[in-house]
Order: sequence, then C-alpha cells, then structure tokens
Amino acid sequence: MSFHTIIEPFRIKAVEPIHMTTAAERDALLRAAGHNVFLLRAEDVIVDLLTDSGTGAMSAEQWAGIMRGDESYAGARSYYRFADTVRDIFGFAHVLPVHQGRAAERILFSTVCNPGDVVPNNTHFDTTRANIEHVGAQAVDLPIAAALEATVAHPFKGDMDVAALRSLIAEVGRDRIPLVMLTVTNNSGGGQPVSMANVRAVRGVCKEHGLPLYIDACRFAENCWFIREREPGYEDKAVIDIARELFSHADGATMSAKKDGLVNIGGFLATNDDALARQEARLLILTEGFPTYGGLAGRDLEAIAIGLREVLDHDYLRYRITSTAYLGKHLAAIGYPIVQPPGGHAIYIDARTYLPHIPPSSFPGQALVCELYRAGGIRTVEIGTLMFGRTDAHSGAQTVAPMELVRMAIPRRVYTQSHIDYVVEVMASMHESRARVRGLRLAWESPPLRHFTARLEPV
Ligand SMILES: Cc1ncc(COP(=O)(O)O)c(C=O)c1O
Repeated sequence: MSFHTIIEPFRIKAVEPIHMTTAAERDALLRAAGHNVFLLRAEDVIVDLLTDSGTGAMSAEQWAGIMRGDESYAGARSYYRFADTVRDIFGFAHVLPVHQGRAAERILFSTVCNPGDVVPNNTHFDTTRANIEHVGAQAVDLPIAAALEATVAHPFKGDMDVAALRSLIAEVGRDRIPLVMLTVTNNSGGGQPVSMANVRAVRGVCKEHGLPLYIDACRFAENCWFIREREPGYEDKAVIDIARELFSHADGATMSAKKDGLVNIGGFLATNDDALARQEARLLILTEGFPTYGGLAGRDLEAIAIGLREVLDHDYLRYRITSTAYLGKHLAAIGYPIVQPPGGHAIYIDARTYLPHIPPSSFPGQALVCELYRAGGIRTVEIGTLMFGRTDAHSGAQTVAPMELVRMAIPRRVYTQSHIDYVVEVMASMHESRARVRGLRLAWESPPLRHFTARLEPV
C-alpha cells in the first residue's frame, strides 16, 4: 500500500535554532540593508531560500566521513575514495578535485578557449558565462523556444535547440567552437531538466563535427530523476544507471558538489582526454593545489564521495522533487504565476506578471523579494533587472532584463514540510495586498554583479 504523504526520508540528529523576528524588526533590518537581502545577516532570516548551493545538510555518514578524512598532502586515501566514486558514476578517466564549480570552469575554459571562440550551451550559468568571457570567448545560449515561455508546461524545458546548434556551427565554423556544453538541470532556465533524447541528439551533432561534449553536472541526480519520471523507457531504471548512460555520451564534465554532491564546499573537473588532463593538472597545481586534493581538505573529498552516492537514492530524490513541486503547486493555487512545471531545486515566480503595476525599471522582482522578507522573514533572490540590467551612465535609464523572476531555491535536507507550509501561509497572506507593493530605485550600485552590493530605496 502506498500513502499520499511523502515524508522527509531522514530523522534529524542535530538542530540549528532559527531566530524568530517580528515584521517591525524585519522592516528596520531591510531598510538598514538597503533593501538588498544579500546584505542581511543570515541569523535574521527565518526560512532561507536564497540558494540551494552549499546550503544542504550532511548525513551522519558524511560527518563520520569527515572524521575519517585522510589529510595527507599527496595520494590521500580520501582522494582515491572520491575519484573512484566519480569514475563509477560519471565514467570519466581523469578527475581533478576543485574547491567549487567555478574553479573547474576557470581551468577548463582557460585551457580550451581562445579569444574569439564560441561556446554553445542550453543556458550558461552566470559563472560559466563569466569564465568564458574572461578568456575573450563568447557564450551562446541555445534553449528550446518553450524555455522562454514561463507558463508553458513542457517535460524537458532544459533541452538545447538542436537546429540552432547546427546553424551556429555552420555560421561560426567548427574550428571556433572548443566544446559544446549542456547544463543539467538548467538552473538559469528555471531548474528544468534535459532529456536523454536531447543529450543523444546533441551528441550526434558533436560527433558529426568532431566537437567534445561537456556536461555542467551540478544537479545531475535531479535531472536523471526527471528522466526516470518523464521519458519513456526509463521508468524502471535505477537513477545511477541513467546517470551512467547520460555521462557516457559526454567527453567531460564540470561539477559543483555544493548541489548534488550534498556537501557545503567542493567540486571537480573530469575529462577523458589524456593530454588535456595533463594541461589542466598544471593549472590546478598553480592555483588550487596538488591534483589529489585540489584546494580541498581530505575530509571534504570523503564527504563528497559519500554525498554522490546518497544523492542517487530513490527515496531521497522522490522526496526532493516532490517537495519542490509541493511548494509550486500551493503557490500556483494561491495565484502566483510560477515557471511551469516546477524545477528540481527551486520555484521561480514571474514577478512582472504578478506585480503588473511596477515597471521593470522599478525592479518588481526585488520588490517581491523585499515583501517576502518583511512579511515572513523568507529570503529569496531576484533574477531580473537588478541582476542583469544596467544603468545608462548618461540618462540614468535602466536596460531591463528579458524576465523578472524571483527564485525560491530549496536547500537539500534542511527544511521540513512545516517550514514550507509556513512559506505558503505567508505568501497567501500577502496575496490580497499585492497591488500595494511598491517598486524600488537604486540608491547606490557598483557593477559588475551589482545585485550583491547595491542599495535601493522605495519609489
Ligand atoms: C548550473 C551551475 N553551474 C555552475 C555553478 C557554479 O558553481 P559554484 O557556485 O560552486 O562555483 C552553479 C552554482 O550555482 C550552477 O548552478
């Protein structure tokens, strides 16, 4: 007999108290922080949905692994446990540990990219794009059309537009493309999955042109769970086997273990190319560390090795994906326009539709972020004009972003259903008064990545 309630498949062994605040206190804290939730102290947040990166809870087994960590400078036992696990799941010949995802990106792109090169991706995450642009190359996003329609439901909105990939190769020439990348799941596109059929199709195009295919693997387990749930032929497969098949189509991967590695810090760069691995190891030694620790402690490698197995557990993944969808379903029922269907790690609210009285130049996404904090101490992040727009130096006008989203990212194994029910209740209470939410204007900004430090005030 199966039951309707999907419980958290864990018991809680250590707890971290939450400091409760009143709406009046939060209003004062928000003003002091210049209406920028990045400038709040974390202890003044009740439910922190700012990011799912590095914010997860480790298991008792991982904490035990922390004690077992081998801190030898070279050839540590923990490195071999880590590298063997990565090889077993991902199948790549060479595995370089790094301190987080962007370090893998920096080493990869500064090794394979030349100025003027072009790197296609379904959608680049911002650090991926920044590392490509840093070496003078161009990052091109090729999402399918449905990815840009917030309310259109599609099972694999993370897919790459294969026809657009062919056109891009024809236009710029294969010699200017060092590799093709697929981000699973597509974070910047709403945490949406990529289908195995799409991976195969992209692989086919890469093969025709002799191009390597890389996977940004941050949320690979969540992506593989969606394949199992939604793609015909995978319903009876183990997620680890789906992952093995997915990576068998690729030549390498970058990974931030802060997501589906279930750890607070760490990542890796993997490749099947012997010569490239040697070049990458040289850079790794220069800035991260010796290739058997790569800027991490032995204990971190041990925790990643355990986390990569735990994340593939079906009970965990069922709970993870269902609990994200649970938040999405309740917010949609209240009337919040969310990106459909819910993604793996986060719910995205279309703030432009939700607050139509606030023009994009007055940051409707950030206005909603502030309201969520004021109403219930809930911290989220704007992905819109504050993050991607620019202020014209002469006129002061804003270049606005294509979408004004608020992302509610759910840390792994941290919050229970009652925390999520609290979030839903807070947002239900705000709903009727949404027409009274006021826009914001910038009081101070410092580009690039202005959203981290900007200060704003109500219009
Ligand atoms: C899809 C994707 N790629 C790369 C990164 C970068 O990883 P890190 O923050 O560990 O540098 C992130 C982080 O959020 C991400 O979501």
